[in-house]
Amino acid sequence: MRRRNKVEVVLVSGASSGLGRATAEYLAAHGFRTYAGARSFAQGADAPKGCTPVALDVRDDASVHEAVRYIVEREGHIDALVNCAAFLTFGSCEETSADELQAVLSTNFLGMARMVRAVLPHMRSRKFGRIVNFSSINGLLGIPFQSAYTASKHAIEGWSECLAQEVRRFGVRVTLIEPGDCRNGSRKYRTRACASERKDSPYAAWYRGAVTRVTRDEEGGMPPEQVAAAVAEVLGKKNPPARRLVARPDQRFAVYLHKVIGGYFFYRIMELYYAPGKRR
Ligand SMILES: NC(=O)c1ccc[n+]([C@@H]2O[C@H](COP(=O)([O-])OP(=O)(O)OC[C@H]3O[C@@H](n4cnc5c(N)ncnc54)[C@H](OP(=O)(O)O)[C@@H]3O)[C@@H](O)[C@H]2O)c1
Repeated sequence: MRRRNKVEVVLVSGASSGLGRATAEYLAAHGFRTYAGARSFAQGADAPKGCTPVALDVRDDASVHEAVRYIVEREGHIDALVNCAAFLTFGSCEETSADELQAVLSTNFLGMARMVRAVLPHMRSRKFGRIVNFSSINGLLGIPFQSAYTASKHAIEGWSECLAQEVRRFGVRVTLIEPGDCRNGSRKYRTRACASERKDSPYAAWYRGAVTRVTRDEEGGMPPEQVAAAVAEVLGKKNPPARRLVARPDQRFAVYLHKVIGGYFFYRIMELYYAPGKRR
């Protein structure tokens, strides 16, 4: 008779690239039976080492249910879901269109919620489950010219807090992973709001400065394995934490400052870091 309080079978979404891929490979290398979900596996993209690839589009109910059905049929259960699928659109709040905003929310937030809703009946019926939702430092504070992504990550934070309180009674635990900048994220998933890209945008200089800053910070960021190891540690715990911030000391300090001073003084520091320049 198998133990019911140990994670064995894990599904990682967004596992074709970046942190999702690194996490899936790390979990597989550490003994978890890992299913790697992403759209590009349907087109024959290479699976992360040691993982079983699953075609998965988190924006599509049928695709999500088919992926979950496939795993439950093969394994009899899913012990843990790690939600990584996401993308970022750079752009000012004013110039990010409703469609661009909706696209980000639809993948990052609604996609995550769709995945959780599909696995929960299985986890509830076994009275055991682990859900790890990838948030970000952007889930804890706002960064200029990343409003769509920041909104999606704040939504994930709030939704996950509600979820954690509702499902604990069924033996399901929810953890938010909050990474700072990491290397190896794919540029493919960093899109730009059309209007902010125009030369005559009133935000042009600041916007370009912020994009350059973020790109540089990601290139000099943590190795993805650091985040992957944090996920493995969470999955191995009997009592996983509600949150796990995985970030460099300066980024931790920013989160602390935001909590302590917040408001316009903090915004000015962020502006100076991400979008310096004279006011118009
Ligand atoms: N990189 C960082 O510095 C950083 C920092 C903080 C938080 N994070 C978070 O960490 C996670 C991974 O980010 P990353 O930058 O490492 O990854 P990434 O390289 O940007 O990869 C994004 C992944 O999401 C998948 N994806 C996109 N749309 C999808 C959809 N509709 N259905 C299924 N999968 C979809 C992509 O696969 P397909 O195109 O094959 O579907 C890809 O595997 C995200 O949640 C991100 O917000 C990243």
